[in-house]
Amino acid sequence: MTKTASSWSGIERLREACLGLTLLEIETLFPIEGYLFTPREMEKVLKMGPRRRKSFTAARIALKDLSRQIGLIDESRPDHTIETLGSDNETPCLDQSGLYCSVSHSDRFVVAVAHRHPVGVDIEAVSNKIIRIRHLFLSPSEQLLFSQSTLDPGKTATRVWTIKEAAAKALGLHLFQAFREVEVIKGDIEKSVMTFEDKTYSVNHGEGDGQVISLVCCGEP
Ligand SMILES: CC(C)(COP(=O)(O)OP(=O)(O)OC[C@H]1O[C@@H](n2cnc3c(N)ncnc32)[C@H](O)[C@@H]1OP(=O)(O)O)[C@@H](O)C(=O)NCCC(=O)NCCS
Repeated sequence: MTKTASSWSGIERLREACLGLTLLEIETLFPIEGYLFTPREMEKVLKMGPRRRKSFTAARIALKDLSRQIGLIDESRPDHTIETLGSDNETPCLDQSGLYCSVSHSDRFVVAVAHRHPVGVDIEAVSNKIIRIRHLFLSPSEQLLFSQSTLDPGKTATRVWTIKEAAAKALGLHLFQAFREVEVIKGDIEKSVMTFEDKTYSVNHGEGDGQVISLVCCGEP
């Protein structure tokens, strides 16, 4: 867990909504790549530029840490034997467990979550840029909700954006499909509510260090 976690709000609630959560500050990580990666992870990382390599590496550290945290992996098992790259070479996994997981990185942090049911997490820095492009991902009724909200506009827009990214991951949607078809019907600081195909989902948020996390779970932990 990151040292700055105490300055975050909602992290314990996020943790209770899933099987486990790891939140790390990327600049504090100093991995030794030869010890960290499985052969498949190594093959993928070798094709990456420095920026992508950093976020991919941070995601591997968070997922391996999470596997130990939830007791899936013995503490003594070496990192390079814990697979965190799904069979499609894109989506994350927690070794051969069959548990669901999700990971997200922002400019500063990486967050990983585990769950017995499909799950999606997203972290973004709060920014006014998201407000400027809100017409791209807010439906007319979400625009109305947005305009009536008493919350900070940047924080509200970042919540909706992260809800849709997390929903895309949890529900296996293309991001643009999530922008169009996931509808946020209630938005608040700690919890929001979204719908997709007549189903309603409660979304938990965490916030700290100018970042927002949204967690979408498709069942009880
Ligand atoms: C998947 C996607 C939404 C992630 O958004 P992002 O803000 O760029 O990145 P984040 O840091 O939040 O998440 C990245 C992580 O999501 C995971 N991921 C990638 N594709 C995924 C998918 N289809 N479903 C679930 N998780 C996925 C990966 O673990 C990735 O991190 P890693 O490659 O370092 O392991 C983005 O890559 C995207 O828009 N892809 C286009 C294709 C698409 O929409 N696919 C299906 C939607 S999930």
